[in-house]
Amino acid sequence: MALLDWFALNARDLPWRRTCDPYAVWVSEIMLQQTQVKTVIPYWERWMREVPTIEAAAGASPDKIHKLWEGLGYYTRARNLQKAAQQIVARQDAILKSRRSRGNETPHVVSYKFPKNFDDILALPGIGRYTAGAICSIAFNQPTPILDGNVIRVLTRVFGISENPREKETNVRLWKLAEELVATAAKYHTRRSSRSEEAHFEIGNSQSLLTSAATITENCSVLNQSLMELGALICTPRKPQCRICPVKKLCVAFREKRVEKLPNLGRREAATARHFVAFVAERNGRFLVRQRPAGVVNAHLWEFPNVEIDLDRSSSTANRDQSAHYSSKNGQSRLTSTATAEKPGPEIALAAEQLGFETYEVMPLCTLKHSITRYRITLEAFRVCLGGASDTSPHLKQAKSGTRITRRSEMGMWKTPAQLQQLAFSSAHRTILEKLPVAPK
Ligand code: ADE
Repeated sequence: MALLDWFALNARDLPWRRTCDPYAVWVSEIMLQQTQVKTVIPYWERWMREVPTIEAAAGASPDKIHKLWEGLGYYTRARNLQKAAQQIVARQDAILKSRRSRGNETPHVVSYKFPKNFDDILALPGIGRYTAGAICSIAFNQPTPILDGNVIRVLTRVFGISENPREKETNVRLWKLAEELVATAAKYHTRRSSRSEEAHFEIGNSQSLLTSAATITENCSVLNQSLMELGALICTPRKPQCRICPVKKLCVAFREKRVEKLPNLGRREAATARHFVAFVAERNGRFLVRQRPAGVVNAHLWEFPNVEIDLDRSSSTANRDQSAHYSSKNGQSRLTSTATAEKPGPEIALAAEQLGFETYEVMPLCTLKHSITRYRITLEAFRVCLGGASDTSPHLKQAKSGTRITRRSEMGMWKTPAQLQQLAFSSAHRTILEKLPVAPK
């Protein structure tokens, strides 16, 4: 059975596949960048309930946008989504205004429309060639190609491309193939055929993936989504299920037993280990948190005061590169956490001092590990208890007299557990918060 027929029978029932609303498709595609489908589903559903239109996205508070994205990671995606919505609204408002000023009749209630033109979509913040292609094909059935990790895997295997897809020339070749496939699908827009009457046609020198027996009217949308779906379900990076693949007869890599060797992505850069320490300070039932500034990774999100330390040199390096700072990849399970048993070393006291805590004693809380891009990150969290009515445990005696905070302005704000619950944290810091005995539920 051909790819399109396979998709008709096997496509997952994903909520964004039940709509052609370009706004809904756009939100799904942005969330799906770097993030798995199963993680995205509840986020997409909540977003569409709370921010159901372009104008709602344009007008929402940044706090709301970040809270809705909390745990998905790569928060620039959410900020760009809002920026793009604001641009769409502003442009359409400007057109209406100019019409009104010319005395033309305009509607009283404006419903803002997502642009249909590929170049207009591509010009929006946060939208690249893949996303513009996905929106145009899925929402408007335009013959625009898509090429993401899944599609690269399918195409390199089916066409037996052994060059590295990250290299320019091969990348250009893959886009061209994706373009030819979707253009061919477009030609068969109104085609109707029976199961016995299959059509084979050529793309370049290769037999097409498209051998459609179904009645399909949204071929560009379906073709692109079937490529994605094949890559996600069958043509997977490890243990691909070639036995049940709908295009195995056409697959060069399958024929030549090279499936596991493709795509040839070259050697991965070695990961760099980085170590951060965070301090959870409590006073009278309130916790000290700070908001990350604009222009850094995880901007606008809240966190416990923290600093990067260089364990090799046993001295803190004070957030030497904010840009690689905490963001749990996708908010998915990459984040692992363990209780910290060891006593903190002198470098921890130094780090605490650097953040403005003058302290003789800190207490280990937990250690979190995760990877983001090429960094393997360890975040050790410690409790620092400051004097106050609720502070009675014996091991805090020293801290009571010895811990105080300097440089208050840099340290952040004291928040109750209920208030913390309203804030958007990066996944790592949300996990720390959940480790606290008073964690708000
Ligand atoms: N990955 C990227 N876009 C997708 C989509 N529309 N459906 C499923 N997985 C995807």
